Amino acid sequence: MAKQMITVMTSNTFPTSKIDQIIEGIAEHGYAVIPGFFPADFIAALREEAHQLHHAGAMQGATTGREDTAKLDTATRGDLIHWLDDAQSSAAQQAFFATMEQLREALNRHLYLGLFELENHFAIYPPGAIYRKHLDQFRGNEERQISCILYLNDNWKIDDGGALRIYMDGTAEPSVIDVLPESGTLAVFMSGRFWHEVLPARRERMSLTGWFRKRGTNLS
Ligand code: OGA
Ligand code: MN
Repeated sequence: MAKQMITVMTSNTFPTSKIDQIIEGIAEHGYAVIPGFFPADFIAALREEAHQLHHAGAMQGATTGREDTAKLDTATRGDLIHWLDDAQSSAAQQAFFATMEQLREALNRHLYLGLFELENHFAIYPPGAIYRKHLDQFRGNEERQISCILYLNDNWKIDDGGALRIYMDGTAEPSVIDVLPESGTLAVFMSGRFWHEVLPARRERMSLTGWFRKRGTNLS
């Protein structure tokens, strides 16, 4: 079943209306949240891969800070991650990349963002793990332009916790939106603009997270 879905998705039939919703959201508000961006059995295939990587010991504690000074600090960030590698990607990952490539081209065409690359990792937050309020751009490095988080958790309830809390900018009163990490929901936002955090959950919480990057200005 998943195999058939993957075939459909690698052909050029991914609904452009869903891509358009993201473009409109980013253009008007700087963010978009699209429930059901990918179909359930496709998400199930990605979730299974994340589980297998976890059981194989291929997911590692995520560090915080720039690469040169990165450190492990679970009080700041408690997820386990596995970076995806284009060269070793599964059929489901390739289908994911194909759709994200459509999104990259649409973002560049409509919003002139000059995005050239997507970096992705699976993330698993054990129950209780958090990621404190942060921005996805490191100081002095604006390469990460657009953050994309695809959630892989079936049947998520409000009481399960684990929302992605996004702090709205430009408002006098601090205001937030909370995104539930439900299977198939895709959250997309401008990396340099929105502070956000992951609240603790009662259950394991999985996602596939990516950043579209533009080229650095000081490439040697
Ligand atoms: C991140 C992040 C949010 C989420 O990995 O930088 O903010 O909802 N993730 O998983
Ligand atoms: Mn983040």
